[in-house]
Amino acid sequence: MSALCVMGWLSFFVTVKEHANELWQNGRAKEVIGPIRVVHQFVDMPTETAEFYNVTSGNMEKVKGCIPAMGYSFAAGTTDGPGSFAFEQGTTTSNPFWNAVRNFLATPTQEDLRCHGAKPIFLATGRIKLPYQWQPRVVSTQVALIGNVVIAGVPGEFTTMSGRRLREAIRTATNSVSDEEDYSIIIAGLCNTYSDYITTPEEYQVQRYEGASTIYGPHTLTIYLKLYQELVTAAIHKKEVEPGPNPPDFNLKRLISFLTPVLYDTPKWGRSFGDCIQQPKSVVHPGDVVTASFVSGHPRNNLMTENTYLSVERLLENDTWVMIATDADWETKFKWVRTSVILGSSQVYITWEVPENVKPGEYRIKHFGHYRYILGGVYAYEGVSNTFKVIVPDPNIH
Ligand SMILES: *[C@@H]1O[C@H](CO)[C@@H](O)[C@H](O)[C@H]1NC(C)=O
Ligand SMILES: *[C@@H]1O[C@H](CO)[C@@H](O)[C@H](O)[C@H]1NC(C)=O
Repeated sequence: MSALCVMGWLSFFVTVKEHANELWQNGRAKEVIGPIRVVHQFVDMPTETAEFYNVTSGNMEKVKGCIPAMGYSFAAGTTDGPGSFAFEQGTTTSNPFWNAVRNFLATPTQEDLRCHGAKPIFLATGRIKLPYQWQPRVVSTQVALIGNVVIAGVPGEFTTMSGRRLREAIRTATNSVSDEEDYSIIIAGLCNTYSDYITTPEEYQVQRYEGASTIYGPHTLTIYLKLYQELVTAAIHKKEVEPGPNPPDFNLKRLISFLTPVLYDTPKWGRSFGDCIQQPKSVVHPGDVVTASFVSGHPRNNLMTENTYLSVERLLENDTWVMIATDADWETKFKWVRTSVILGSSQVYITWEVPENVKPGEYRIKHFGHYRYILGGVYAYEGVSNTFKVIVPDPNIH
């Protein structure tokens, strides 16, 4: 399973862990026992079909996916983040001027227009190939089974009602496979592929922002319901699934970047990388915000993946320092500021919001970075602040 989903799920489990003990104590928890299995499949959405019971016509219809496209209401944005120009949500007709702009990029075919139904096509994204596909045709679908917990990793943003229907569809599949197990079903969104929104066919008809951004047409959800039922059934039966078509290779090396490369870094005159040029206050209390600033290189010289640009450390009784916060903690912030473009100088500001449950003692802040030498090469450096005291008021003294 890919790292992106695992990360999402881990953070989910970590969040859950905080309350797990509480649940365990009051007897509402259930132990998860059983096998761990994962099934994954790439799917070419425009060629997928599914069965759909149409309430209006009373017929079972065969429906299909469409080549990706965004509707006019996508350009209108949402109520909380409106777009530019005069686009309005709920737009189900098109406009000749914007159609001309659209056709310059790629003209949707008659088949696209028919397939997308209620959606007037604003961008025929699936037909734009330059410089890459604008939106994916091939999505990544997967189901993980941990005992009787089903985690469906889905490649986009499901609306609340779409999520409920997906859970129901998976429940129907698990019930038909085994009638004794009571499966818990979790939908984990934005896994591996970003394919915008997934609305129900009814939500799609009104073409608000989410409907306009449901890129494989009115039956995007209908297709996912079928696919995830198949995946969960395969997972429970320990059956292999076809790997599916390969998605395009978006290896970072092949992507065009609009970021200019880091040319070089130099520290300020008379300074070295990692010098602490703004020291933290010498005495702080829970709730205070501590700031330290360091002479730095460009953070893009090394993205510190699985690592940290900063640490907050506490001195133990045996004179060793222990890391108590990194850049992954909410209580810290890391801000990089370019101070001279010509010299390539910059500095970072590291802030630490002293938590309420902090242990009193001696602390310090460290910064880890890399600089690019003007004659070539990227080198690591680190910096450390003066130590400062954290004083926790005695709760017994008022
Ligand atoms: C259901 O059938 C009606 C009548 O044929 C059609 O207009 C409508 O688009 C169909 N609904 C969906 C969600 O496909
Ligand atoms: C110092 O104490 C900590 C915690 O008690 C311990 O984990 C660490 O190994 C000790 N370090 C040394 C050098 O003794």
